[in-house]
Amino acid sequence: MKTQVGIIGAGPAGLMLSHLLHLEGIESVILECRTREEIESTIRAGVLEQGTVDLMNEAGVGDRMMREGHLHHGIELQYSGIRQRVNMHELTGGKSIMVYPQHEVIKDLVAARLEARGEIIFGVSDVGLHDVETNSPRITFLKDGAEMELACDFIAGCDGYHGPSRQMIPESVRNEKKQIYPFGWLGVLAKTPIANPELIYANHDRGFALISQRTPEIQRHYLQVDPTEDIANWSDDRIWSELTARVETDGWELPDGPIIQKNIVSMRSFVCEPMQYGRLFIAGDAAHIVPPTGAKGLNLAMADVQVLKRGITAFYQSGDMNWLNHYSEVALRRIWKAQRFSYWMTTMLHTNFNHTSFERSVQLSELDYVTSSRAALTSLSENYIGLPFEWEKERTLQI
Ligand code: FAD
Ligand code: DHB
Repeated sequence: MKTQVGIIGAGPAGLMLSHLLHLEGIESVILECRTREEIESTIRAGVLEQGTVDLMNEAGVGDRMMREGHLHHGIELQYSGIRQRVNMHELTGGKSIMVYPQHEVIKDLVAARLEARGEIIFGVSDVGLHDVETNSPRITFLKDGAEMELACDFIAGCDGYHGPSRQMIPESVRNEKKQIYPFGWLGVLAKTPIANPELIYANHDRGFALISQRTPEIQRHYLQVDPTEDIANWSDDRIWSELTARVETDGWELPDGPIIQKNIVSMRSFVCEPMQYGRLFIAGDAAHIVPPTGAKGLNLAMADVQVLKRGITAFYQSGDMNWLNHYSEVALRRIWKAQRFSYWMTTMLHTNFNHTSFERSVQLSELDYVTSSRAALTSLSENYIGLPFEWEKERTLQI
């Protein structure tokens, strides 16, 4: 088999890249190790930045999101029993976020690729990357027991944190920066009415809690737990009483109901530099992980592939590798700002049980400052809603 861009992974990064390349008349093939049913039902992120919403619409895949997603103009921050709304719409000159689950984004992108006769090969195994430092890289894989090979001009490694692509960058070239947090998130999907019109991020002596939503009937909530905690220790009753203790305020009650799914994820920050090796480019979780408090993971994946698409398009228009050779540098500027924001939100909102009483008081004072200062609220809002893509575009134009 032969194509222009071989893409490993049908997550948000791989699918959006393939779709954007198609709109530019560039061919790609996506290799995915899971089934279509699995990728379309895995519960992950829920918040789309304004720029991701705009991208979905401009790329012609935003219709269902605009109909079924929930546009939010702000969030609520809670600490010491006080809850304060952050009017992000007003603070960012009219921008907003969309609550629309990642697996729905996946469904919309898969449908668009298949409708345009794009090729996604599901259920592959033993994916191997070869000759990435040459102009003719190859990907080998097994499909239904048969050995296959995909020859291409470029490989896009969009295969998440555990995929094989990043490992192809030699250790002597690869600089991996990471931070592990002593926090985990217990996430639940529950059959209850919407708890609050907007998301609530709550700092509490017992630990952080996040009240989110999905549909009028099903909601998504998170609790800070120890990352080594066993989910078997968390009965539905224990989850509801802990959520209630952390988020209830006078006159506001958390509706409870049957929990239909629960799991625990650990939290880390991770960046791999550079994100290019020869004709291999890595994007999304393959290159970086953020703790989920800033809701940036999916959005960063979408931002990376826009930069990558620009470089690949420039190559096919003029044969010029210059933009592609600056992919890492341009993408990393946004990535580090998202890392900074996610780290800041995480350390401000979670309860670190190893902290001294001095450190805990400084944390509460930071929340007091952030919720009092218009400058601080504006900074939080512009980062949460997503920094303008123009910043990367301007940098790209200087290349
Ligand atoms: P992925 O979505 O991971 O996609 C990679 C794809 O590559 C997958 O479909 C995988 O099956 C495939 N793949 C992997 N290895 C191979 C291989 N060898 N061969 C072929 N295919 C391969 N972000 C938030 O903002 N909020 C959240 O609440 C949140 N929750 C999360 C919960 C979990 C359990 C995880 C893992 C992530 C969560 N994230 C969250 C992060 C967010 O979902 C990711 O940042 C986003 O999915 C990144 O998209 P991606 O396309 O880069 O990677
Ligand atoms: C959701 C996840 C996040 O990480 C976040 O910061 C906000 C909302 C969610 O899954 O709804």
